[in-house]
Amino acid sequence: SNVTAKSTWEEDNFKQSLPKREAFSHKGEHGKGLVVGGSKEMPGSIAMTAKAALRAGAGLVTIGTQEGIIGSIAPACLEATFLPIPENGPISSSQLEPYHAIAIGMGLGRGKQAGGIVAGVVKSADCPIIIDADGLFHIKKNLSLLGNRSAPTILTPHPGEMAMLMDCPIEEIVHAPFDYAKRLSKEYGVYVILKGKYTIITTPDGKQTVNQTGNPGLAKGGSGDVLSGVILSMVMQKGTIEEGLCNACYLHGKAADLSVSEGHSYYDLLATDVIKGFPLVFRT
Ligand code: APR
Ligand code: MG
Repeated sequence: SNVTAKSTWEEDNFKQSLPKREAFSHKGEHGKGLVVGGSKEMPGSIAMTAKAALRAGAGLVTIGTQEGIIGSIAPACLEATFLPIPENGPISSSQLEPYHAIAIGMGLGRGKQAGGIVAGVVKSADCPIIIDADGLFHIKKNLSLLGNRSAPTILTPHPGEMAMLMDCPIEEIVHAPFDYAKRLSKEYGVYVILKGKYTIITTPDGKQTVNQTGNPGLAKGGSGDVLSGVILSMVMQKGTIEEGLCNACYLHGKAADLSVSEGHSYYDLLATDVIKGFPLVFRT
C-alpha cells in the first residue's frame, strides 16, 4: 500500500482527458442516466446523486424511486424526471432500456424488495452500472451475477463495505487496499473504486490509479452519494471508463478542496456544498 509506487491522477490528467463540451452539442450527447435509490428513511441521498450527475455534466437524469417519496424529492431536483419503482417486483428491462448508464443503491434500503430491484438491474441492464451503498449490501448475496455482465460494472465501496464484500476484517482492507481491490476486480471482472483519504481506482485488468484530492470535510454522510452521481455522469461522456472514473474522483475531491479554500471549512462542509463546488473546478 505504498501510494508513491502507483500512478496518481493529477490536475494535468483531468485537464487533458475531460471531454470538451462542443459548441453544437445537445443533451442526447451527454448521456441519459438513471439513478435508483432513496427510501422513506433516506429520501435525500438519491436527490443528491441526481443533482451531482447533472452538475457534473449529464444530459438527462431520471430518478427511480418509490412512488410515495417522489413528492418529497422532486422540489430538491427540478431538473430530474422520475420513474416510480413498482411496489413488488423488479424494474422491467424495457424500462431500463433508454439509459446510457445506471447508478443504484444510494439510500435504497436493505429490505427484500430492494434486493430484488438490485438483482433485476444487474441482470437486465446492458449499459454501465455503478453499484454503491445498499446496492453493495444486496449484491453481496449475488456476486456471481456480476461475472455474467458484458457491459462495465463499477463498485464503489468504502473500506467497511469492501470488508463486507471480501468477508474479512476492515483492518485487513486498510492494510492492503491495493491487493484487495485487485482481487475483487479480477474475480468478477469489475471496476472497483475503493474510497478513502486516498481513493484507489482499479480496472478489471488490474491497473490501479490513486486519486489524492479531497479532505476531511468529506467525512460526512452524503458525500458518497454525490460521488456516485459524478461517476454516473463521467462514464456517459466520451473517453474511456477508466478516465471517467479517475476524473469523477478528481472532480469530487477537488470541489471539496476548493470549497474549503474559498469559504467553507472541514467542519461545516456539506455534501450539497461539494456539488456547488463543481464550477470552481470546471472554471480553473
Ligand atoms: N479525506 C478525503 N476524502 C474523504 C475523506 C477524507 N478524510 N473521508 C471521506 N472521503 C471521501 C471518500 O473518498 C468518498 O468519496 O468522501 C466519500 C465518502 O463516501 P462514503 O464513505 O460512501 O460516505 P457516505 O455514503 O456519504 O456516508 C456514509 O455510508 O455505508 C454507509 O452506513 C454508512 O451511512 C453511512 C454512509
Ligand atoms: Mg456510501
